[in-house]
Amino acid sequence: MNNTAAIAAGVLAALTAAAQAGPVAPQAGKEKCYGVALAGKNDCAAGPGTSCAGTSKANYQGDAWKYVDAGACVSIKTPKDGFAHAAKGLIVMRPTAGIGFKPIHFEEAVACPAAGLWFEVHAENYMVAGGPRIAMLEALRAERPLSLHGVGLSLAGAEKINPEHLARLRDLVERVEPLLVSEHLAWSRVGETCLPDLLPAPRSNEALQCLARNIDQTQEALRRRILIENPSHYMPLPDHDWDEPAFLRELVRRTGCGLLVDVNNVWVSANNLGYSPRRYIDALPARDIEEIHIAGHRPDAVHGGALLIDSHDAPVAEPVWRLLGALLSRVGEVPVLLERDGDVPPFSNLLAERDRAAAYLADRGEFAHAC
Ligand SMILES: [Fe+2]
Repeated sequence: MNNTAAIAAGVLAALTAAAQAGPVAPQAGKEKCYGVALAGKNDCAAGPGTSCAGTSKANYQGDAWKYVDAGACVSIKTPKDGFAHAAKGLIVMRPTAGIGFKPIHFEEAVACPAAGLWFEVHAENYMVAGGPRIAMLEALRAERPLSLHGVGLSLAGAEKINPEHLARLRDLVERVEPLLVSEHLAWSRVGETCLPDLLPAPRSNEALQCLARNIDQTQEALRRRILIENPSHYMPLPDHDWDEPAFLRELVRRTGCGLLVDVNNVWVSANNLGYSPRRYIDALPARDIEEIHIAGHRPDAVHGGALLIDSHDAPVAEPVWRLLGALLSRVGEVPVLLERDGDVPPFSNLLAERDRAAAYLADRGEFAHAC
């Protein structure tokens, strides 16, 4: 069996297994049970040393939940030390480093006992009403926190958000109660034409107004803060009124959104456009950074290292690891997500790379070497 056939067979097996297992929710006689209560109050701070001794039926902070027999939630006790993965019990977990989820890894992802592991999915792959794909996602969500990473809202377009797309995203958010929701500083739609890419926009005052309007509309529809990711750049664009860190800071100020900082995108863009990646991340508002992406890149086939491509098909490069260390020394314990979208290796390879990110999180500052 060649590689493509093996992957296709794996996807089919995972989807079939999920379909046979049936949706995790809703189920007759079941209820959602969250492990976020502190001494009977629903205000667990979810910080180091917090003792989550109780349970809750209400989700106040986006923690993991599971379905239990109706009426049983209040009798389930979370681990006293909190944030540990209890294989068959309630999960109360502090998310540390996560992995971009791929259906071929479904069974290993659900069974993986790594502390702090969480997963991210592209929202558009799951914006459907039901079926095996949603069943798989709900089965994963019952075990681990999820984040939704949108790629199709076209926030930086001149047009308003497509209301149908936004409604489907809202339905998915309500269904899986994600840890985080993020989108891009990019556009991909003109009228009825959707382009399969994340295209750059000028950082003009006019674009800022449109973007802020679209982020406002999204946050109001989802009733939550979203994070905006910095893009990868391959060529300089004219007509900027703002540098990118200042533009992102202003977006945060106007809309109350947060930031997802992709350090691979920073490294690729700084290389391609010729600026300091360290100066870029030092100019970002640390307290508004709620998620970090790491990924691999490749030199362009024609231009070599002078033009790096944000390919997501290789391990994270060493300079990107150093940049991650520098950023973590500024922002503290922010969830880090490993993206891998091409030449996808076995789950164990991704987990090893993810574990390195978890080590960086546990040892912030030690890795903050000059880059
Ligand atoms: Fe990213």
